[in-house]
Amino acid sequence: MIDEILSLVNSHEQWRGKECLNLIPSENIMSPTVRSLLASELGHRYTARDRFYMGTRFLDEIEQYGEELAKSVFGAEVADLRPLSGHIADTIFLACFTKPGDVLMCVSPENGGYPGLWNDGLAGLLGLKAVPLPFSNERMSVDVEKAEDAIKHVKPKIVIFGASLILFPHPVKELATVAYENGALVGFDGSHVMGLIAGGQFQDPLREGACALFGSTHKSLFGPQGGIILADKEHGEILKDRIYPRFVDNAHWNRIAALTLALAETKNFGKSYAKQVIQNSKALAENLHDYGFPVKCSDFGFTQSHQVILDFGDYKRGRKVAEKLQEASIIVDCVIRLGTCEVTRRGMKEAEMAKIAELIKRVVLDRESPEKIKKEVAKLRSDFPNIEYCFEQ
Ligand SMILES: Cc1ncc(COP(=O)(O)O)c(C=O)c1O
Repeated sequence: MIDEILSLVNSHEQWRGKECLNLIPSENIMSPTVRSLLASELGHRYTARDRFYMGTRFLDEIEQYGEELAKSVFGAEVADLRPLSGHIADTIFLACFTKPGDVLMCVSPENGGYPGLWNDGLAGLLGLKAVPLPFSNERMSVDVEKAEDAIKHVKPKIVIFGASLILFPHPVKELATVAYENGALVGFDGSHVMGLIAGGQFQDPLREGACALFGSTHKSLFGPQGGIILADKEHGEILKDRIYPRFVDNAHWNRIAALTLALAETKNFGKSYAKQVIQNSKALAENLHDYGFPVKCSDFGFTQSHQVILDFGDYKRGRKVAEKLQEASIIVDCVIRLGTCEVTRRGMKEAEMAKIAELIKRVVLDRESPEKIKKEVAKLRSDFPNIEYCFEQ
């Protein structure tokens, strides 16, 4: 039994870890030291807010250290690293500031909003009514004028910006005042763009009017899988006070230690990393567009994030393309979104984005044998064995 389990993990490690081009924008890779902390002794331990458990003195210090770093990286008055995932961070924010019957306004899943917020997700769970933020699919952004009218008319309790498909900053600055004037609280689900915000290269929701920024720690931010909440003092203190015992009992201390180190890497290298991620997305998008791929938002500079969207118009076609690419060890999702975080972290730059676009074109448009392309993918991977933007080299 043990051999089977280890063999599955090793096969995965070899394939996705060494041979594939991983282009899923929800994923990233940790530096070796951050990753090693996940296997540390901390992962065995318990703490509780009421000091029920002894033996926590180093955990307490790590938590404080992590929170201070997070506050400094994001310019937040309050930080909490305990949420176990982006989804749980969303849950905490919504549950703390709404009651059943309230209206939540956010980008709808059909426009790339996070389905987990919608009526069959958290809104349904918490008895809220999710109403779409008016959106321009052509520009992949919230339609400011229509959203202003909708906020005045609907009077939501909460407006959440941010989305799963996100190419450009959302107009928090433009809409926060009207939201507050009409009784709504403004939050930003930064699950996808957390690393770009941390690097100062996307937008700055906490300065633009959001009272809280929350989400995943492992997409464009290169921490371990988990969640984070950053907020102003007023709302942050409420969130912090209510997390335990409602949403998290014991926190995962190995993850929090790993996240703390990833935040230290972000503080030191986050700006150059985020810049390169965006430059790489633009380069990948331009090259694919030149080959004739239907790259979304070609009239608006393609992207200012870690994502590039290939708009094949229907999910079935996207799925077919994604499956073909997988045969060549190029891993994408079925939307199709391509993400440049991981390849950037491996040290790839614009020249490699041109090469990746060429490999994609040869699989999808030229219908070259995936077996042949797979070898070139593995060679490209082997040329970039290190992880950059971290302390070890
Ligand atoms: C915008 C957004 N928010 C939240 C989540 C949930 O994040 P997690 O997978 O960390 O729970 C996702 C997931 O991809 C997402 O795209």
